[in-house]
Amino acid sequence: MTNNEVRIVEVGARDGLQNEVPVPLAAKQELVESLVDAGIKNIEVGSFVSPKWVPQMADSGALFQQLCRVDGVDYMALTPNLKGLQAAIDAKASEVAIFASASESFSQKNINCSIDESIQRFSEVMALAKQHNLPVRGYVSCVLGCPYEGEVELEAVARVAAQLYQLGCYQISLGDTIGVGTPDKAAAMVSAVAKQVPVEALALHFHDTYGQALANINACLPLGIRCFDSAVAGLGGCPYAAGASGNLATEDLLYMLHGQGYQTGIDLLAVAKAGDSICKTLGRSNGSKVAQAVLAK
Ligand code: HMG
Ligand code: MG
Repeated sequence: MTNNEVRIVEVGARDGLQNEVPVPLAAKQELVESLVDAGIKNIEVGSFVSPKWVPQMADSGALFQQLCRVDGVDYMALTPNLKGLQAAIDAKASEVAIFASASESFSQKNINCSIDESIQRFSEVMALAKQHNLPVRGYVSCVLGCPYEGEVELEAVARVAAQLYQLGCYQISLGDTIGVGTPDKAAAMVSAVAKQVPVEALALHFHDTYGQALANINACLPLGIRCFDSAVAGLGGCPYAAGASGNLATEDLLYMLHGQGYQTGIDLLAVAKAGDSICKTLGRSNGSKVAQAVLAK
């Protein structure tokens, strides 16, 4: 990757749809396939979590099985434990993600265990993933604030990120789960984590609750971050973080990056059309200002 190439991880079908009204399988399939047609190379298709906890993701196995896959595209899945990893392996996910939290309370609410217990659980997941040559991405949630505890110490974020990296995650995605971060805080958080994990192995995952996500990304690009997570049409939120809005909209991110001379290999208009279609299915308005503008032309 050259210095002006940016990798986008599209999380709309997972992070987005996990917190929307349930969507028919065919609409999910159309969403994923049309995003891949738009040039997305890294896409979270779903998650293998308890269907009692997140019923919206219960058909992830069927979705993986049904997809028409394109060579060179990573079809990713969230896996909280060995049961989830085994389901992801059965569904032929090409990459999986484990997800920890920098906040104890969020860890308990989200995956029903402490941070230390989650790291122990993830070490078992890593061992099995390694046997299957599956790349594993690691998430750290609540890196700029927790819905239950408020402020989160930078040391806690750096510690959990380092633990996931040492377990063997090839990349750590730092999640502002509730979208409370502001640019200086985001940059300070990245600088603190980069003392423990190489900056090339970091990604950022901003929810846009307070409209700060693009500003935060701009503050972190100069630090060397070249991978960002986003969701088409700004879908979603987190079921265990009340009030959190969706991720930064992929269309808004693409518009800013392309406008500043970064390359993503992704067709903005095609992404906007895919987003518009799923918004119609959901009966919700499009959360991307850029999508509204380019589709109005
Ligand atoms: P638990 O209740 O402690 O689990 O939940 P358990 O091991 O005691 O099992 C209880 C039941 O769940 C059993 O079924 C298991 O078989 C079943 P029963 O005997 O009652 O019929 N079960 C499973 N079923 C399917 N797939 C599995 C699985 N595991 C157990 N993998 C657990 C623990 C982790 C399973 C639960 O808490 C869970 O599923 N949590 C996931 C919550 C979630 O998906 N949150 C959203 C994703 S994280 C996020 O959005 C943040 C992120 O975007 C970054 C950011 O924004 O910061 C990544
Ligand atoms: Mg998220």
